[in-house]
Amino acid sequence: MKYLAILGRNKTLSLAELESLYDKAQDLGGDCASFESADEVNIDRLGGCLKLARLIDEPIMKWLTKLPDGKIVIGVSDYSKRASGRTVGAEALKLKKILTRHGRSVRVVLGDGAVLSTATVLHNGLGRSTSGRKVELIRLDNKWYASCGVQDIDAYAKRDQARPARDAKVGMLPPKLAQILINLCGPLPEGARVLDPFCGTGVVLQEALLMGYRAYGTDVDERMIKYTQKNLEWLNKSDFTISVGDATKFVWEQPIDAVACETYLGPPLKTMPTEVELKEIQQEINPLLRNTLRNLVKQLKSDTPVVMAVPAWLRPDGEYLGLNLLDETDNLGYNVKKFVSGGRLLYHREGQVVAREIIVLRKK
Ligand SMILES: C[S@@+](CC[C@H](N)C(=O)[O-])C[C@H]1O[C@@H](n2cnc3c(N)ncnc32)[C@H](O)[C@@H]1O
Repeated sequence: MKYLAILGRNKTLSLAELESLYDKAQDLGGDCASFESADEVNIDRLGGCLKLARLIDEPIMKWLTKLPDGKIVIGVSDYSKRASGRTVGAEALKLKKILTRHGRSVRVVLGDGAVLSTATVLHNGLGRSTSGRKVELIRLDNKWYASCGVQDIDAYAKRDQARPARDAKVGMLPPKLAQILINLCGPLPEGARVLDPFCGTGVVLQEALLMGYRAYGTDVDERMIKYTQKNLEWLNKSDFTISVGDATKFVWEQPIDAVACETYLGPPLKTMPTEVELKEIQQEINPLLRNTLRNLVKQLKSDTPVVMAVPAWLRPDGEYLGLNLLDETDNLGYNVKKFVSGGRLLYHREGQVVAREIIVLRKK
């Protein structure tokens, strides 16, 4: 099945997530991408995807008149380059008029611009309709697509904010990003065991469990292990193992099918560090990450994916300076995964001083 995906804010990262899991992932320009999957795709497992849609391969009116009996609710978004709120609104009303003439009762959901926001789509029941009568119609370059999924922003917010044990100091890994880290490991069989050697409060483990994997977490800080225990119990899941352990020397129990983690990112910074300050921070983090990779490589099976979110710092030229870890991973015993989308996999808000850079490795 061919899908149209509307990508999240970090487009390169979202595209890499699709490429890791599915065939023929392709950038269509703007926020759009396409990919193919033999199986039905569940948007709730994709952290980087805002909307999913399928091609309507017949005239749009013919398709609409075949919708199940009862009141129809349609929203229209146009992701083509020249689309505007005015043209989209006119198009939506034209469709409504014709449908009304066919005797159908129709409500149209309109947005502020050419595309409906994720919140509007979700809260109007479009994209997740079980009746099949509520649909977001997505237009891209003269083709029409029907939505078959929209990101459940409310569910993500709940998972993020309602966890009983949170710690602002270790930073809050957004659940969406945790899902992306796991998905960048590539397709994993159901029940695969995902290790997070820097588990903190357990967001990666939480998302792994919700995705149907087993979770294994270690952290050097006993307090964090208690937090993780509390959070995973709150989730009502039991298929996890956690333990205090220093990632640079811990001996993990087998099996480990994938490693996905957000490492120590250094001190949280509100202002850009000077060259000297940055050198000091890097001198603390570099050995931690290298020694972790050295320790892991001895214990992993060949071809095991290792996905890490590591820090990169904003510099005066507006670029993010990373750790050059990738230059050395070859010697450390890993291959670096390259994505067709190219470019670095960075996750940050505009102007954020410490970004996360995602590195995707496989043990040789
Ligand atoms: C950025 S936090 C990870 C937060 C985590 N993603 C979460 O969901 O809360 C980094 C974690 O690495 C842990 N850490 C630092 N040095 C470590 C080491 N040598 N071995 C294992 N864990 C370590 C810290 O205790 C901290 O919990």
